[in-house]
Amino acid sequence: MKVLFVCLGNICRSPTAHAIFRQLCAEQKFPCEIESAGTSASHKGEAPDPRSIKAAPDVSFKGIYSRPVLPNDFVDYDLILAMDLDNLQELKRRCPSELQHKLHLLLEFHPKYPDFREVPDPYYGGARGFELVRQLIATACEGLLVNLKAANLTK
Ligand code: 4NP
Repeated sequence: MKVLFVCLGNICRSPTAHAIFRQLCAEQKFPCEIESAGTSASHKGEAPDPRSIKAAPDVSFKGIYSRPVLPNDFVDYDLILAMDLDNLQELKRRCPSELQHKLHLLLEFHPKYPDFREVPDPYYGGARGFELVRQLIATACEGLLVNLKAANLTK
């Protein structure tokens, strides 16, 4: 299984999902290749935002650097999870029609979806926004792992 998390800059939300889901899969010994990317390339090469790292002190962000979504990602990944509707729409615009089934919102795996549908962009806000981002993503990542394990059993 290969999962790609996508936000706008790939420095706040999707690196948080990348780091949290990577740790969860490692803890539960679930084999999964995980990466993250941005629909924008404007932060390419940058490490995650220090505010994201501060909001998830028990999680390692080692080796995570911003990179843009690439055309081949739609082929290479099984599941491509957008943080919000703008980024989902942009992915849908770029993705070949026969691969559109791979595109989803991360919060589809949150128990309170669709009351919580989008992970809000925290970039221009304060620390509380980053805390909310971490919470939404951590809960959705637990749901995602339960779902992937169940899907594996029925294979
Ligand atoms: P992200 O947050 O999409 O969660 O990485 C953002 C990072 C940078 C910008 C916007 C959102 N920006 O406008 O530079």
